Amino acid sequence: MHGTVDGSSWLLLGVMGDPIAHSKSPVMHQAALAELGLQGAYVPLHIRPKGLADAISAVRSLHFRGVNVTIPHKVEVMKYLDEVDEGAAQIGAVNTIVNDNGRLKGYNTDGIGYVRSLKDEACPDLSGKRIAVLGAGGAARAIVYALIAEQPAVISILNRTEAKARELAEEWSKLADIRGFGEEASCEVLAAADVVINTTSVGMHPNIGDVPVNPDFIREGAVVSDLIYNPLKTSLLRESERRQCTVHGGLGMFVNQGAYAFEFWTGLDAPVTAMREAVLNSFR
Ligand code: ATR
Repeated sequence: MHGTVDGSSWLLLGVMGDPIAHSKSPVMHQAALAELGLQGAYVPLHIRPKGLADAISAVRSLHFRGVNVTIPHKVEVMKYLDEVDEGAAQIGAVNTIVNDNGRLKGYNTDGIGYVRSLKDEACPDLSGKRIAVLGAGGAARAIVYALIAEQPAVISILNRTEAKARELAEEWSKLADIRGFGEEASCEVLAAADVVINTTSVGMHPNIGDVPVNPDFIREGAVVSDLIYNPLKTSLLRESERRQCTVHGGLGMFVNQGAYAFEFWTGLDAPVTAMREAVLNSFR
């Protein structure tokens, strides 16, 4: 845990991305500051790739306590930091930076935020579970890495491009039973899964009718989770609900990746309910 804020310090926080105008992080973190009565601000920072080095220098010179980092800077930013946490180094991406008196340390809260949300909202105990992960890109990396700590029986990565699924499975094969598959294995992998997690963008607004796999392959009663939160309930989740599955949308991941970041910056428990409400209100 990091230094705890006392009520008198002014917290300067922000999020760097390109684009950044539609980020829900400012509204969520402003709500967290207000809920806890903390003085501070969380600002959107439109940083283009060529401006990233200067922006990181400004984090130090302007005494930001911390920043979030989003697309397209999550990988590139690592080379400007003084230290990168073990998990973020394994995942190969940073989404949260903590500034301790000018020393910048990078973390990745996407995977741990996702797992906290999944356990809180849909599946309290992941140990011994058979988990199918759809997709093998950056989001899948963060989630698979965080899932390993939960000691599932097996993690099966199912991806359009089979080679990427196999590579990812091989990379962490010493840490857990992880296997990679192509789409032709969908039926067998999904039929065996207790938990199915979509990390691809298939089904995201505006293509809300699309599904990443045939939902008929998912067994009745499984937990089905989608990282997408626009729409709040994707076609995959709607179809799965009809098959008596427990469904879990992506809003909780977004809120909890922010909650971990907030906790790293302040040393306080994040007001998760107020943060979630603020994001939901911003959709209305
Ligand atoms: P992210 O950081 O969001 O994970 P990414 O690294 O570009 O983004 O990875 C996207 C993932 O979604 C990949 O696994 C991709 O499959 P491929 O490896 O075959 O490209 C998957 N994906 C994206 N669009 C898809 C589609 N229309 N159908 C199936 N899979 C798709």
